[in-house]
Amino acid sequence: MSRIKAAITGVGAYVPTYVLTNDELSQMVDTTDEWIMQRIGIKERRILKEKGKATSSLGARAVKDLLAKTGTDPLDIQLLICATITPDMHFPATGNIISEKTGLANAFSFDIGAACSGFIFALETGRRYVESGAYQKVIVVGTDMMSAIVDYEDRTTCPLFGDGAGAVLLEPSKDDTGVLDSILAVDGSGAKHLHMYAGGSLHPPTHATVDARQHFIFQEGQPVFKMAVSKMADVSVEIMKRNNLSNKDIKFLVPHQANMRIIEATARRMEIEREQVMINIDRYGNTTAATIPLCLWDYEKQLKKGDNLVLSSFGAGFTWGSIYVKWSYDPK
Ligand code: UT7
Repeated sequence: MSRIKAAITGVGAYVPTYVLTNDELSQMVDTTDEWIMQRIGIKERRILKEKGKATSSLGARAVKDLLAKTGTDPLDIQLLICATITPDMHFPATGNIISEKTGLANAFSFDIGAACSGFIFALETGRRYVESGAYQKVIVVGTDMMSAIVDYEDRTTCPLFGDGAGAVLLEPSKDDTGVLDSILAVDGSGAKHLHMYAGGSLHPPTHATVDARQHFIFQEGQPVFKMAVSKMADVSVEIMKRNNLSNKDIKFLVPHQANMRIIEATARRMEIEREQVMINIDRYGNTTAATIPLCLWDYEKQLKKGDNLVLSSFGAGFTWGSIYVKWSYDPK
């Protein structure tokens, strides 16, 4: 008997309406549109400004979009996995709140925190639930409101990030398409280069931590950049080799959108052309767990059943990984 495979059978997403441009940023910190475009490749990013809204609001909008597009009854969903590093609160899990907001009354849910690799790690987890044979409808949502933890006085980090959410539906595959292979990795020694210092059990919040601006993203760009370039390319090439995929076999690389130069370096190592790379960093920036599903959502109409996709990421932890997906449906 052949092994059950998990197919991605739909994509939903949501980005807030407010557009934060490089020009507006240059009025907030000492930067320019030219610097940001040359070094990162971001023109604008979306910011959630609505009062009372948070990461779960973004995620819930993406899940509602997914349910509507796929004609799925929320009561049929058995599990929702939420990837995020900007949870509404430390607890309960943001996945629990999204489930409540979207009427997933029969699902259990939990969060995965793997930063920019969050979606890849969550997809691998969701895939295994479907492959077990016990779950037929699983949602994986990547959602982050990065504006909640960005220091808009720090020019080295504030141009990078944006808010957004993307979600996919996983169901048992009816054919040889689906999520076919994965390579995931972590190196906890990377924590010193990219983290949020305070607010957790190591450095609980105090007036001093607030005054020292330690509840924001801290990043040493250069060491993160160097590791990202080598690890994201290594793992993407490794998954191609392991599955006997040549550069011509790849329809799209679906890379985490942190920096255009990291994306280009990965594409170069895979020896693929610009047209084979999904890119929307210019419009949304780095939305952390949402970048990869936002790409799938943006390019969905260009995807046909049987297309080979390599999803790749690198982020805080350090975490990194690649997933090989054979796409399961034609444009609807
Ligand atoms: O997704 C999670 C993983 N994160 C990443 O993958 C991010 C990886 N890192 C990067 O993408 C890059 O390191 C950055 C985009 C963050 C920074 O680019 P860089 O080419 O590494 O610049 P740098 O940090 O070496 O800074 C070069 C110069 C510095 O000035 P001096 O010391 O040479 O005078 C910075 O102060 O650029 C300056 N700089 C800026 N100038 C204008 C830094 N940020 C800015 C800015 N505008 N926003």
